[in-house]
Amino acid sequence: MHTIIEPFRIKMTEALPITTRDQREAWLASAHNNVFLLNAEDITIDLLTDSGTGAMSARQWAAMMLGDESYAGSISWHRFENTVREITGFKHIFPVHQGRAAERILAVTRLKSGAIVPNNSHFDTTRANIEYAGAQAVDLLTLEGQDIYSSRPFKGNMDIVKLAHLIETKGPKNVPFCMITVTNNACGGQPVAMENIKAVKEILKKYHIPLVIDGCRFAENSYFVKEYEPGFSGRSLLEIAQEMFALADAATMSAKKDGLANIGGFFGCHDDEWAEDFRNMLILTEGFPTYGGLAGRDLEAIAVGLKEALEYEYQRYRHATVEYMAGRLIARGIPIVRPAGGHAVFIDAAAFCPCDYPGIGLVNALYLEGGIRAVELGSVMFGRRLLGTTPDEIAAPRELIRLAFPRRVYTQSHFDYVIEVLDVVWRQRDAIPAYAITKQAPFLRHFTAHFARGESRKASFS
Ligand code: F0G
Repeated sequence: MHTIIEPFRIKMTEALPITTRDQREAWLASAHNNVFLLNAEDITIDLLTDSGTGAMSARQWAAMMLGDESYAGSISWHRFENTVREITGFKHIFPVHQGRAAERILAVTRLKSGAIVPNNSHFDTTRANIEYAGAQAVDLLTLEGQDIYSSRPFKGNMDIVKLAHLIETKGPKNVPFCMITVTNNACGGQPVAMENIKAVKEILKKYHIPLVIDGCRFAENSYFVKEYEPGFSGRSLLEIAQEMFALADAATMSAKKDGLANIGGFFGCHDDEWAEDFRNMLILTEGFPTYGGLAGRDLEAIAVGLKEALEYEYQRYRHATVEYMAGRLIARGIPIVRPAGGHAVFIDAAAFCPCDYPGIGLVNALYLEGGIRAVELGSVMFGRRLLGTTPDEIAAPRELIRLAFPRRVYTQSHFDYVIEVLDVVWRQRDAIPAYAITKQAPFLRHFTAHFARGESRKASFS
């Protein structure tokens, strides 16, 4: 059969709010034109993130009932630890309440002021935690990865020539570790080839620099490796994931993505000293090392979810849904990042509606037109503020918006609706107004910023 179906059926439903344009205008205005500040009950299709928004399986819900809530050494912890160890092979494994907790503890325990951390592309929380520790987060994406419209596979790869150059010029002592993010969220959910991770590891080995994998979407990356990288078609997703983690000295993980859970994460490493420092800080800020800020039932849900994310039929269906939408948007001439990423469709907002903060303009237009919530990944999220200078901001290299696909949540008709809304907004794109920031936090400003609506290139957006 050619039709790829959802490899599950629906056992429980949740009503979606159907709202009017007038209501949405009022709600967005009272949210200061920032969709992060909207109430979820005022959103029809929520594509803000694929993080913690997935639907759990009956097996996960059943496992939750077995949650052992003992403070120390619970049965659920052992199930969690065994599963994470089977996939990653790490000697030391620590649960955390979500990915950024692992990033924060890694940063405060291993980084000093002036240190440099390379990555293919740092995601916002990773960058913020590294910078908060006084270190510098450097993105080393390949030229191909920076080209929005190149259809080459594995555009999430790290530029290994740039990596070697950075280490040589800055000195290996100033690089306490190097990260690689799979899949590469900030550059369009693009995958990283196993060959690239091996090449990165080879360079790092020469300088005794540890490799830390940000494995949030490790199962989606494994699917891309199986489908598109020569030599992997006969391997299971689990085997591919195992091979990848075997190259790493440590990993940070948000189980809210490929853990198919609504909360959770972990840190894993081999080094005893790293583990000791991590454990001490974990106890101080997250919890005892066998629960790390999670309930026993969460550990159970993650243990099952990590394995479900590695089921081939699930990944095949998930990838087909992203490709379905990407293909239809390309056919309408809508400028999207190519090829389709693992967890989302990314739109080139600068090409869609060239105006100030085009990503905010487009995100808000999608909400006003159809009650859809997307997220900006452009100058609001990644731009650099320079206090006391003119101009007072360096724009991000790209102005993207992301329509992230929650796992196992929306059906094909929901995506048909999103395509229709995008089609309308695309045809009326000249009416999308510019936005200005009127209030912002010193870091991670996109979550709480206020925006004022400016002029559109064409009268009003009807
Ligand atoms: N690393 C990557 C690549 C991520 O995408 C995220 C989260 C994190 C780390 C942090 O994990 O949220 O559990 O603390 N990304 C979400 C997103 C928020 O919408 O892409 P967390």
